[in-house]
Amino acid sequence: MSYSQYLKPISERRTIYNLKPELPSGISIDTVQAAIQTIVRDVPTHFNCQLNRAIILTGDAHKKVWDSVAKATNGARRAIAERDETFGTVVFFVDEAVTRKLQNEYPAHHDLLPLFGEQVSGAAQVQSWVAVESMGMGANLQHFNQFVQDALPADIPKSWVVKSQLCFGLPTGQADVKEYVENPVKVY
Ligand SMILES: Cc1cc2nc3c(=O)[nH]c(=O)nc-3n(C[C@H](O)[C@H](O)[C@H](O)COP(=O)(O)O)c2cc1C
Repeated sequence: MSYSQYLKPISERRTIYNLKPELPSGISIDTVQAAIQTIVRDVPTHFNCQLNRAIILTGDAHKKVWDSVAKATNGARRAIAERDETFGTVVFFVDEAVTRKLQNEYPAHHDLLPLFGEQVSGAAQVQSWVAVESMGMGANLQHFNQFVQDALPADIPKSWVVKSQLCFGLPTGQADVKEYVENPVKVY
C-alpha cells in the first residue's frame, strides 16, 4: 500500500449523522468485528499493557442500550437517532484493572498511566472510525458514557470503563461542511 492510499481514508473520515440501520452490500457484521478486533489487538499501548476493550452492539442489544440512554437523558435527540437510525455501536472501554496493576508496578508513573489509557483508547477509536467508513459506512462518535455503562449487557466486567460509542450505519446524506484552521506543520 502506498502512503497516499493510507492517507486517503484518514482524510475522508467524517462525522456522519444521516444514517439508516443497514450495512453496505458486501459488508457483514463479521467483517466489522474482524476490523475492530484487529485494531484493538494492534494499537500500541504503554508497557504493551493492551488495555483497550470493545464490544459491538447490534439488533436488540443496540436498541436496548440506546433506548435506555434516551430515557435516562429525557429523550436526548441524539440518543433517539442512534437507537432508530444506526445499525450498530462499537463501545470502547479501557480496563482500569490494568491501569491499577501498572500503577502498583510503576508508582513513579502513577498519574501518567490513566492519561496513557485515554490516549490509546483514542487511537483505537479513531482508527476504528476510519476503518468502518472505509467499508462504506457512515459513523459518528458519542460520549453518553455513564448512561451507556449503566445499560450494558450484564457480563461486561466491572473494571471495563466506557470511553466512547462509535455509532455506524449506511449513509443517507453527506457530512456538514468542515472548516479547517490554518495550522502548518513546519520542518526545522
Ligand atoms: C475526542 C472526540 C470527541 C467527540 N465527541 C463527540 C460527541 O460526543 N458527540 C458528537 O456528536 N460528536 C463528537 N465528536 C465529533 C467531532 O465533533 C467531530 O469529529 C469534529 O467536529 C470534526 O468533524 P469531522 O468528524 O466530520 O471531521 C467527537 C470527536 C472527537 C475526536
